Amino acid sequence: MIRKATPDDHARIHAIRMGVRENILSDPSLVTAEEVDWYRDHAIFLVAEEAGEIVGFTCANHQTGLVWALFVDPAHEAHGHGRALLDAALAELAAAGHAQAWLTTGSGTRAERFYRRHGWREMGRSIDEQIVFIRALAQEDAG
Ligand SMILES: CC(C)(COP(=O)(O)OP(=O)(O)OC[C@H]1O[C@@H](n2cnc3c(N)ncnc32)[C@H](O)[C@@H]1OP(=O)(O)O)[C@@H](O)C(=O)NCCC(=O)NCCS
Repeated sequence: MIRKATPDDHARIHAIRMGVRENILSDPSLVTAEEVDWYRDHAIFLVAEEAGEIVGFTCANHQTGLVWALFVDPAHEAHGHGRALLDAALAELAAAGHAQAWLTTGSGTRAERFYRRHGWREMGRSIDEQIVFIRALAQEDAG
């Protein structure tokens, strides 16, 4: 089940963010509480639940088309939550009027392979050596 995040979800979301084995947050101060609150209150912030427990989350920026975060608890990987979260975020970006979404991710990761399989195209490397991916959004994505 996919639903909007609430303030009560943040402890579990934080635990998932800190528990991933790839795309680890090297410096937690780079993500501020203000940013997290902004995504929840003003942008796109969704969680996936399995048996009543949050197992993954995604954040996207309806103003810029950026998928800012997509994280699934390693214990719940390969159950389709990443796909479901991403599809839901892309539907909201398409509904907000975007023809294209973009994101960055570490190279050589499960996420890189996941995005390539799902139609994302590499545009080169960012200044911090992340892969910059774009994906066209069809109107059908808006659901
Ligand atoms: C990348 C990431 C989000 C993928 O999440 P996930 O929940 O494992 O993704 P999915 O389960 O949707 O898909 C992964 C694969 O699992 C398998 N899978 C999906 N649903 C399945 C199911 N119901 N049963 C069995 N296998 C399944 C498929 O092989 C799928 O491959 P496909 O995409 O070609 O169909 C997750 O691995 C992650 O959080 N990684 C660490 C953090 C990270 O790098 N995030 C990205 C930062 S930008």
